[in-house]
Amino acid sequence: MIRAKKIHKSYGDLEVLKGVDLHIKEGEVVSIVGESGAGKSTLLQILGTLDMPTQPKHFGTEIALDGQSFVNMNDRQLSRFRNQNIGFVFQYHQLLPEFTALENVLLPTRIAGKNEKESLEKAYRLFEDLNIADRIHHKPNEMSGGEAQRAAVARALINEPKIIYADEPTGNLDSKNADDLHRLFFDLRDKYNQTFVIVTHNPNLAEITDRKLVMKDGMII
Ligand SMILES: Nc1ncnc2c1ncn2[C@@H]1O[C@H](COP(=O)(O)OP(=O)(O)OP(=O)(O)O)[C@@H](O)[C@H]1O
Ligand SMILES: [Mg+2]
Repeated sequence: MIRAKKIHKSYGDLEVLKGVDLHIKEGEVVSIVGESGAGKSTLLQILGTLDMPTQPKHFGTEIALDGQSFVNMNDRQLSRFRNQNIGFVFQYHQLLPEFTALENVLLPTRIAGKNEKESLEKAYRLFEDLNIADRIHHKPNEMSGGEAQRAAVARALINEPKIIYADEPTGNLDSKNADDLHRLFFDLRDKYNQTFVIVTHNPNLAEITDRKLVMKDGMII
């Protein structure tokens, strides 16, 4: 699903990623762990096309999602590629506060120009699946942290992305809500063969993923 070679990232003199190689298979749930500042979020942002590696030509960097290389795409191509192929879940749900949960979840389908009726049906199904059907017309500030985070997962899933990147998705939740969300990731994998890459400081989650990648000193060890 993901093949990446020689990813480098520097901020000025600070070399955050020193040639990361990575290979993720379809349907895998992979965790990335490591100390604060190890470069986990930086790596996830680059894999997710939200940030660019440093001097990819010089280093011979290659990153491909499902065989499609995106390192040389321009901004417009990247936005489109991201909208169609990649879902994100962050530590704070990042739902837009002035929109309802449903409107938030539908946004990526509108950007992609998908059929409204089909998208609506899919959204309703997802809200049922994620057990938040009764919160569908609520705004984020009228939802609990766990509910808002599940709506964020619905938003990540709605365009049927090839891969979902999650950066400390349960870092802001109590242990019950965190466990529920972790279970949800595995349910989604079992049901849809959804691929997940999850950055986490949560040892319980890291232990139950298919593979745990440890980042240290700008490398995966
Ligand atoms: N935009 C930026 N400009 C300069 N330095 C940055 C920038 N983004 C990140 N860094 C630095 O890069 C290093 C890696 O940051 P990153 O956010 O990837 O760490 P992390 O492993 O996700 O840490 P945490 O577990 O605390 O979230 C840190 O030293 C950070 O200060
Ligand atoms: Mg981080």
